[in-house]
Amino acid sequence: MAIEPISEYPQLNPERIPEHVAIIMDGNGRWAKQQGHMRIFGHKHGVNAVRNSVEFAAEIGVRYLTLYAFSTENWNRPPLEINALMQLLVDTIEKELPNLMKNNIRLKTIGNRSQLPKRCQRQLEETEKATENNTRTTLILALSYSGRWDIIEAVKKISSDVQTGGIKVDDINEDTLNNALNTAAYPNPDLLIRTSGEMRISNFLLWEIAYSEIHFTRVLWPDFRKEHFLEAVLDYQKRERRFGKTSDQIEPVQKGANTA
Ligand code: FPP
Repeated sequence: MAIEPISEYPQLNPERIPEHVAIIMDGNGRWAKQQGHMRIFGHKHGVNAVRNSVEFAAEIGVRYLTLYAFSTENWNRPPLEINALMQLLVDTIEKELPNLMKNNIRLKTIGNRSQLPKRCQRQLEETEKATENNTRTTLILALSYSGRWDIIEAVKKISSDVQTGGIKVDDINEDTLNNALNTAAYPNPDLLIRTSGEMRISNFLLWEIAYSEIHFTRVLWPDFRKEHFLEAVLDYQKRERRFGKTSDQIEPVQKGANTA
């Protein structure tokens, strides 16, 4: 998995590479069904799309890539599928460690890790430790994660700080909540991608995507490749991000990129 320079993609404006991309990987089950296989067959093939996406993000200089790998609601799936997904996660992380090291990628997670099987927790701890000094791209796996869960946990932390006198109610602001979330250490996503043609957020990064650009593609996750990721970033680069301002107030670099 060698990383090519960004000159591989001359269509991209290097000044407007999204710093943080988040992906809702969807469509594994439908992909498997189309091929006449069990759902887990789709998840297994989804790993190729994960590898491709991580590699592409690192190649073009995306600093953070968050993948929605297992939601709080996914615990309601049949136990067989849950077990297979957890095993796939352990196996993939173990197998991919040399690639993460070679490509200077740091692994992190968000979500309720204590709910994951012990072998999964151990593998994640080991891989996080092994990759902690890598600096090119941070791969953040959302595991046993949901946006509402994270907000509730943050509210609990803040309430407890109020109770112990650490903070006054009137001093609570956006930073207070940002800092209490699992995502505190990362910038908000600039671009959110969802595969498989579904157009919803499914309880992912609810607070963090307030101003993210959203790209939907009909491609099912196991078929998602660098060309599709490129298409999403090109789409992002055409958008004018106003953050509530008027078009005239927008930075010239973004306006320039918009007409490029
Ligand atoms: C959604 O498709 C996909 C998931 C819930 C799991 C994603 C997991 C992987 C791609 C495998 C391993 C991941 C890592 C990070 C190593 P779905 O099952 O909801 O598909 P459907 O909507 O077609 O049923």
